[in-house]
Amino acid sequence: MSPARLLAFEILRKVGRGGYASDLLLSGSATLHSRDAALASEIVFGVLRYQAQLDFLVEHYSLRAIRKLDFEVLLALRMGVYQLRYLDRVPPHAAVSESVELVKTTGFRSAAGFANAVLRKVGRDPVAWPDRSTELSHPAWMLERWDREFGPDITPLIARANLLAPEIYFRVPPGAAIPAGLSAEPTGTSGCYRLISGEPTGFRIQDIGSQAVVPLLDLSPGLRFLDLCAAPGNKTAQALESGVRAVACDFHAKRLAMLRPLGVDVVHLDATRPLPFRAVFDRILLDAPCSGTGTLARNPEIKWRLTPADIDELHHRQVVLLQNAVTALAPGGILVYSTCSLEREENDGVIAALGLEPARTMRRVPGLQPGDGFFAAVISPR
Ligand SMILES: C[S@@+](CC[C@H](N)C(=O)[O-])C[C@H]1O[C@@H](n2cnc3c(N)ncnc32)[C@H](O)[C@@H]1O
Repeated sequence: MSPARLLAFEILRKVGRGGYASDLLLSGSATLHSRDAALASEIVFGVLRYQAQLDFLVEHYSLRAIRKLDFEVLLALRMGVYQLRYLDRVPPHAAVSESVELVKTTGFRSAAGFANAVLRKVGRDPVAWPDRSTELSHPAWMLERWDREFGPDITPLIARANLLAPEIYFRVPPGAAIPAGLSAEPTGTSGCYRLISGEPTGFRIQDIGSQAVVPLLDLSPGLRFLDLCAAPGNKTAQALESGVRAVACDFHAKRLAMLRPLGVDVVHLDATRPLPFRAVFDRILLDAPCSGTGTLARNPEIKWRLTPADIDELHHRQVVLLQNAVTALAPGGILVYSTCSLEREENDGVIAALGLEPARTMRRVPGLQPGDGFFAAVISPR
């Protein structure tokens, strides 16, 4: 059994119980050869991105409803079909035999013959997808929301961008140089480079959409800067490049500890409660917890987990967070509210709920701009 496929299977099983693929891959592949780690990652993300297409294909070849299959058998079949139809470098016999082996070794020996028969039928002939949700491999309710928000011509562009592996961007702080051996190109966002090849060791990997938020704060040396939802610290680190005096906060103590190397003051707090500061801040960033629907290429499991009710619940939490954040802003100060969500309720809807008038908004949409989807509103109450 190849370690890459075994790891991919275990990770997909844990994702099915609520885990996050990228975290699990990071920890699970630490001891693997880089080639195996790359295959595990390719299979995990591919299966999650194309899950609706794969489930249709499993039903198409097996003539059985997927709801009648044990979850582990379904996972092994999704993995097998993905390798057979979507990857070019995997020999078909390996894709079939390793998937059948997975079925056997994970306790479903009696389904091994069935899995073998199904996978042997898988070809590469085009199929007619039964509906748009299957073709774009996104839940129908999510596509319908994007139709209303962006228009039905834009929705497929977003969904197709979410099916691709994201490009890698990293941050080059002022004065730092890109070492020989690393091939990268600058982007329109200052200090943000797109990786072409090589390992950006020592640089902070940070999506271009995320790097576009901090410049909206108009930072300069000496300003008092509050980062209310700061962990793991990407935007705090970027803000520090401007010489601000930063206080970084987060609800999750473990994640907040990741900011220690930055040498900033850290405060462990719940920003839905009244804030504990006596002083006010010249600049505040509220990079709010959100649904993450702008990051589905990177976190494809979110699209299968999220419900419309979650978005309503997030909206209410974000309104309270913003209401509290505004109380800590100095007169004439600037507050930036941001999310990596595409959903109106989490973006303009939060600003509108408090009757605030943004001086400016930024919107990045996958498929229209490079990188993750982001929203940011610049608030500077008079
Ligand atoms: C989008 S992430 C922040 C990313 C971070 N700004 C960066 O660029 O690295 C949102 C953060 O909000 C934190 N969070 C969630 N609920 C919170 C609350 N009630 N108070 C403070 N932080 C909270 C989460 O732990 C998470 O780290």
